[in-house]
Amino acid sequence: KPLMQAVVLGARAQGQTVGLVPTMGALHEGHLALIREARLQADLVIVSIFVNPKQFNSDSDLKSYPTSLNNDLDRCAQQGVDVVFAPNAETMYPPDFDTMISAGALAKSFEGKSRPGHFDGVLTVVGKLFTLTFPHFAIFGEKDFQQLALVKRMVRDLHYPVEIVAMPVIRELDGLALSSRNKLLAKKQRKQAICLFSAIQEVQEQVSMGEKRRRTLISAARKHLKKASLFTTDYVDIVDPKTLAPLTEVDRQSRILVAGQFSGRKPVRL
Ligand code: PAF
Repeated sequence: KPLMQAVVLGARAQGQTVGLVPTMGALHEGHLALIREARLQADLVIVSIFVNPKQFNSDSDLKSYPTSLNNDLDRCAQQGVDVVFAPNAETMYPPDFDTMISAGALAKSFEGKSRPGHFDGVLTVVGKLFTLTFPHFAIFGEKDFQQLALVKRMVRDLHYPVEIVAMPVIRELDGLALSSRNKLLAKKQRKQAICLFSAIQEVQEQVSMGEKRRRTLISAARKHLKKASLFTTDYVDIVDPKTLAPLTEVDRQSRILVAGQFSGRKPVRL
């Protein structure tokens, strides 16, 4: 039995509640918010740190993904994390590894369309992490909203006995959502990255003034995104939070999904 499983089963046998925060490292305040929540709710807090090669569909994106293991370990210690689970790629994916979890229709649009295979990779590693760390609950950020929806669906479809806890996006002072990839932005790209937040704010403002038409709202958002000359929009849409189906009329709870790439000397995905 893997050591990680033995530790958790021991804790559970003593009646402890186990919480997992799955990460790819390069921890920032967004991750720390998830960890603090786990600390409040669990007796045994596990943070996993694993840059999962199966969810990258571009080699250069994988190679440039930021890592800072020593710093991550310090931060976890400061937050009172009990276990950092940082397996290596060979342990997670031995050469004859041959089984994947396949994401369904929820993965066909947005991030799944821009990055084929990405969500199969995410669900496969999340499924493995659930089996290895056997948590009562796992915490995910709403920043990757489609990922959160897919994980919830997988938990329901495959009967994982894990409660999924969602936490809101944490932003920089100027509104940029915290993300490990932000470190990769050149100065000019970083300056322009506020286009994402201004697009979201514009839509929120128009909705609060009574505008309901999806097309009008999306073109208002696109106007803001176009102001950033180095940014190429992959998608921007307004969707039902459960089904991720685009709404023609924004007349109920909804979410704006927006993502794209920065070009320049180093391309960066946000
Ligand atoms: O959101 C992430 O950091 C990753 O997609 C996750 C959930 C840790 C799986 O590798």
